Amino acid sequence: MATILPTTTLDFNNIQGDILGGLPKRTETFFLFEIINATKFRKDLNKLIPLVKTVAGVLKDRKDIEDHRKKRLPGLLRLTGVNISFSHLGFIKLGIDDSSLRPPVDPHAGVLDPFELGQKIDAVINLGDPTKHNGDPDWDESFLRGHIHGVIVITGDSHASVNKKKSEIEVIFGAHTPNASLKEITSIRGDVRPGDQAAHEHFGFLDGISNPAVIGFDTVINPGPRPVNPGVLVTGHPGDPFEIGRADWAKDGSFLAFRYLFQKAPEFNTFLKKHPISEDGNGKVLTPEEGSELLGARMFGRWKSGAPIDITPFKDDPILAADSKRNNNFAFEGERSSQFKCPFAAHIRKTNPRDDLEVPPTGTGSVEANRIMRRGIQFGPELTTHEKAMGITEHGRGVLFACYQSSLVNGFQLQQQTWSNNPKFPPFTGKPNELPGLDPIIGQGSRSMSGLDPLNPEAQLALPNFVVPRGGEYFFAPSLHGLKGTIAART
Ligand code: HEM
Repeated sequence: MATILPTTTLDFNNIQGDILGGLPKRTETFFLFEIINATKFRKDLNKLIPLVKTVAGVLKDRKDIEDHRKKRLPGLLRLTGVNISFSHLGFIKLGIDDSSLRPPVDPHAGVLDPFELGQKIDAVINLGDPTKHNGDPDWDESFLRGHIHGVIVITGDSHASVNKKKSEIEVIFGAHTPNASLKEITSIRGDVRPGDQAAHEHFGFLDGISNPAVIGFDTVINPGPRPVNPGVLVTGHPGDPFEIGRADWAKDGSFLAFRYLFQKAPEFNTFLKKHPISEDGNGKVLTPEEGSELLGARMFGRWKSGAPIDITPFKDDPILAADSKRNNNFAFEGERSSQFKCPFAAHIRKTNPRDDLEVPPTGTGSVEANRIMRRGIQFGPELTTHEKAMGITEHGRGVLFACYQSSLVNGFQLQQQTWSNNPKFPPFTGKPNELPGLDPIIGQGSRSMSGLDPLNPEAQLALPNFVVPRGGEYFFAPSLHGLKGTIAART
């Protein structure tokens, strides 16, 4: 464990809280809206700004939660959090020049900026989402109409707290009245799963273990991936590829990639049952249950408990999983030719290849520039007895995936397109037949991967689609200064 000193000053009262602190939540509503009266919206926004929780606000909430726990007070502390972000179309509607959110244009580069394109187009040309006959992504209608101007994220301890806050926000913008400045497109609610599945996603794996430690924010760094420069996540700081040249209002913000991802959990479970690994890497014969558990762990790179297979490849270790000093302390070091411990294409190796990429001698750089801060939550009900028995999804469930970064090109888009959907990633020096294949969880395209069987790593296993994207959008979460000084009308 090392303590590091900040090399840049982050203004915790200026940065929205979800970006670095993570709004505390048991439940979260993504309120997607269209601006219908821009002049009035900019006036009304002044009344929302006092509700917007900053990083400083989150730190205070976390301390209050800790005190509440220490005092052994009953129930959860009643808390809510509000953050707001805008799409490119939202800025156009508001008449705000958002050109400094994009890299300086090189007319010969021919690269289209994902924020400007919007996710509906990016999904088709870059993310590999399945499409309909008309060329649109095969998404829910709400995400296809092209009027998503922004999202208000509302988190809280209970539905009652969040619903109350949402009503308060609707009153601010006159929603549902003839004088409304915004219209709700859809509101999607996510909830932490119940009981011992809290913090586990719907396939059953513990989530939210590996987020980057941030220089200038985190004071204690657990052993594991190198901490990232703050500008990898927050615009206008060292590590932001466009640190110089952002308009003043566009500093201290972050891009939010939101994805509405459905998970076919019964089908995933059936797949594991049908393809158990017969022997572990030491040649020990496995029971069908053990073989299925190992298969799932090798698809993710972690056991359901969260224990990383790079450290404990053939046996789960829940004590290691719960130990934040050890559960992220691995790097696939010296394994560019080997998937004995962890398949090249395992979800966590695809999305954070650690030392699979060159390590610059200077420390932060390379893979650090491509990291994202994940802030998702699960949605939908628990599996029913009927779904378990039939192995078929009857009720929609999945992840409201949300992540922050200072560059969508370097962060979410690259992780999905260039890493997860690319069968040749990570760069490997194994046998030619050991082509890594696609990320078995989120990879879009012709889905198969190698390395699932530790004793026969060349075997490619064909993979059905277990995660189905049904919508999404790219947003920018401005600073409080940006909200007050530029986006809201001067009062
Ligand atoms: C339904 C969809 C998804 C599921 C079920 C899922 C599940 C998980 C789980 C269980 C972990 C391991 C726990 C942890 O390290 O926090 C993880 C890690 C991670 N996921 Fe996902 N994920 C999904 C979608 C995505 C998407 C769309 C991306 C980005 C394109 C992504 C990026 C990451 C990253 C960066 C990590 C951390 C890797 C590391 O640092 O070791 N995930 N995910």
